[in-house]
Amino acid sequence: MAIDRAAMRMIFSCQFWRMAICWTFALLFSYLRFHLRGRCLTQHPRFRFSLDPGGKIRRPICIITGATSGLGEATARAMAAEGYHVVLAGRCSEKLDKIIQDIMKGNESAHLNAFQVDLSSFHSILKFERSFKQWLLDSNLDHSVQLLINNAGILATSFKVSADGYDKMMQTNYLGAFALTNLLLPLLKKSPVPSRIVNITSFTHRCVTNLKLDCNIFSHSSSSEKYPFANVYENSKLCLLLFSYELHRRLYEENPLSNISIIPVDPGVVKTKILREIPLCLSQLAFTVLSFLRLLQSPETGASSVVDAALAPPNVSGEYFFGGKGRMVESSSLSYNAKLAADLWSKSSTLFEDQIAIHKDF
Ligand SMILES: NC(=O)c1ccc[n+]([C@@H]2O[C@H](COP(=O)([O-])OP(=O)(O)OC[C@H]3O[C@@H](n4cnc5c(N)ncnc54)[C@H](OP(=O)(O)O)[C@@H]3O)[C@@H](O)[C@H]2O)c1
Repeated sequence: MAIDRAAMRMIFSCQFWRMAICWTFALLFSYLRFHLRGRCLTQHPRFRFSLDPGGKIRRPICIITGATSGLGEATARAMAAEGYHVVLAGRCSEKLDKIIQDIMKGNESAHLNAFQVDLSSFHSILKFERSFKQWLLDSNLDHSVQLLINNAGILATSFKVSADGYDKMMQTNYLGAFALTNLLLPLLKKSPVPSRIVNITSFTHRCVTNLKLDCNIFSHSSSSEKYPFANVYENSKLCLLLFSYELHRRLYEENPLSNISIIPVDPGVVKTKILREIPLCLSQLAFTVLSFLRLLQSPETGASSVVDAALAPPNVSGEYFFGGKGRMVESSSLSYNAKLAADLWSKSSTLFEDQIAIHKDF
């Protein structure tokens, strides 16, 4: 295995060792926690909508972000097989078309649509919301959404600024999902059948012991060389988790009989393109070691944890799903800090409203 200069630079960085050691411990800790105190949903049958033409909705709609690769693509395939009308949302239309053709080859009766959206751009998210609503109107479909799966995510090893001026990884992994969820919430609330939001988070959130909600949280000031990419990834996943629990609390406080549920999912380790920015020899080494430890899953197996969450009974909400087979464990204690979650919500809402004001005339 050739080790090039980029790989050597990475090996000598603290961030690499943080990933190699802390993330492995966080993963093993999640499995241990499941064996000691976990619960399983396997005794519950998966919840299925009846595809009754005379029913309240003709076919439930499921929006999946980042549907052009890995877990998102496998989840789109699985949800189409479950009879959902799957809306594949991704940043590259060629990739979306290719995946739609590919799914149709194995499932000719699949109901699929593709929409372009870049989660690291508020303008793009607002454009998506507008064209999606127009499509509902044009297709004479019920003006509601049954399932939103916030899956899109990146692990960026160098600092990149988004078009809106934020850290691109933080915006893609957290702020984009926050904005999209808030924009689609009215359509989820309007659903005549129970609706759900599934957020794809990660065991790496366990490595965060202190989340500082200062002015640097969404936009890093460090130089590219010193970019703490592992910490930023962990923070983005913790933020998504805090947001999931806060949304759960708000929805159920507003209406104890809320018909929207929210489930954060941690698929464990899945062999996808998520490590594309890590030098190839190191990502291959990581996958080999994880495979030897029997911790590495295929995208199809990884997606089964997302499908578990998507099809869990409607009364399941605010539970942390981990690693498939209906497993539920507790996430880190910091993720249950309601004060931190409320502060994060307020900071994110302010930013979201500012962006809405900036883009109001587009
Ligand atoms: N793989 C794992 O072990 C693992 C473990 C825990 C959690 N996760 C999470 O699972 C999710 C899916 O990741 P994956 O493992 O399937 O990785 P992946 O194969 O790299 O897929 C990531 C998906 O997100 C899309 N995406 C990236 N940036 C985007 C943007 N700005 N706007 C819209 N879409 C964007 C990608 O689109 P392109 O095709 O255009 O690049 C791709 O479709 C991520 O949130 C990741 O953090 C993964």
